[in-house]
Amino acid sequence: MTIQTICVCGAGTMGSGIAQVSAQSGFHALLFDVNPAILQKAAASIDKNLQSLVDKNKITIAAKQSILSRIAFVSAINDCIADIIIEAIVEKADAKAALFNQLAEVNHGDTIFATNTSSLSVAAIAEKVAHPERVAGMHFFNPAPLMKLVEIVRAPQTSEAVIQTVYQLALQMGKIPVHCKDAPGFIVNHVARPYYLEALRLVEQGLCDVETIDTVLEAAGFKMGPFRLMDLIGNDINYAVSCSVYEAMGRPPRLQPSFIQEEKVNTGALGRKSGKGYYDYTGMP
Ligand code: NAI
Repeated sequence: MTIQTICVCGAGTMGSGIAQVSAQSGFHALLFDVNPAILQKAAASIDKNLQSLVDKNKITIAAKQSILSRIAFVSAINDCIADIIIEAIVEKADAKAALFNQLAEVNHGDTIFATNTSSLSVAAIAEKVAHPERVAGMHFFNPAPLMKLVEIVRAPQTSEAVIQTVYQLALQMGKIPVHCKDAPGFIVNHVARPYYLEALRLVEQGLCDVETIDTVLEAAGFKMGPFRLMDLIGNDINYAVSCSVYEAMGRPPRLQPSFIQEEKVNTGALGRKSGKGYYDYTGMP
C-alpha cells in the first residue's frame, strides 16, 4: 500500500516530532489534538526546529516553507482522513483503542492504525479495535526528528502487508526500523527500565542525590543521566511505562516503580514539558 497522508494524533512531545519528520520526508501530515493550546505549542516548536536547520544551512528557507505547507493542524476527528494514523496520545490502552475505533468510522477501508505506545501490549489494543489486522506498533524515540530507531511491533492480529508497509514507511522517513515482538517494553524500554529504577532506588535510600547520579553516569559515557532523561521523556509517561512493564512482567520486585515517580506525577512535576521535574526548566526555551 502506498502512503501519502499521515495523520498523527496527539501533538505533545512525540506527536509534534513525528508530524515534523513526516512532512520533512515529503508526506502530507495532519497533526490532531483535543487541546488547541497544545496544537499551537506544536506549531511553534516545529517552526523553531526547522528554523534551526535553516540557520545551520541544512535546509533552505524555501524547503522550510514547503515542509510547513505539508502540515495541517486539526482539532476535529472528521478531518483526520489519512492512509495511516500514528497515535501518540496518553499511555492508556482503552483511550488508544477508542480513538482508533472513532477514526475507523471516518477513514477508508485500508487505513493503518499505528500506535507509538512505549510499553502497552499492541495485541491488547488491537483486540479492542474493529479492524485488528490493521493495527501495528510504530515506536519512535524522543526527540523523534533526531532519533533514528523505530521499533516495529507486530501483534498476532497484524497482517503481513501492514507490517511491510509500516516498515517501508519508517525507511522512507530516514529511520532505522527494527522488528520487535509484542513483549513488555519491546526491546529498548525493557532493557532501559533498570537504568531509571536503580537510580531511583539510590535516591529513595538516601545514598546519592539526583545531580550526582546524572553527573557520574554522563561522565561514564551515557549520553544523558537517568533523571535528565526522565525529565525529557516526561515523568507521567515514564511512570506509566514503569507500571505497565512491571504489571506485564508479573510484578518482579526489581522492576517495582518508585514512589518518587508517583510523587512527581501527583505534583505535576512532569519534566521539561511542565517546566519542572527533577530539575527546574522555567525560563528555558
Ligand atoms: P504528551 O503528554 O506530551 O502528549 C500527549 C498528547 O495527547 C497531549 O497533547 C494530549 O492533549 C493529547 N491527547 C490525549 N488524548 C487525546 C485524544 N483522545 N485525541 C487526541 N489527542 C489526545 O505525551 P508523549 O510523551 O508525546 O507520549 C505520547 C505517546 O508516545 C505515549 O503512548 C508514550 O508512551 C509514547 N512515547 C513517548 C515517548 C517519550 O519520550 N515521551 C517516547 C516514545 C513513545
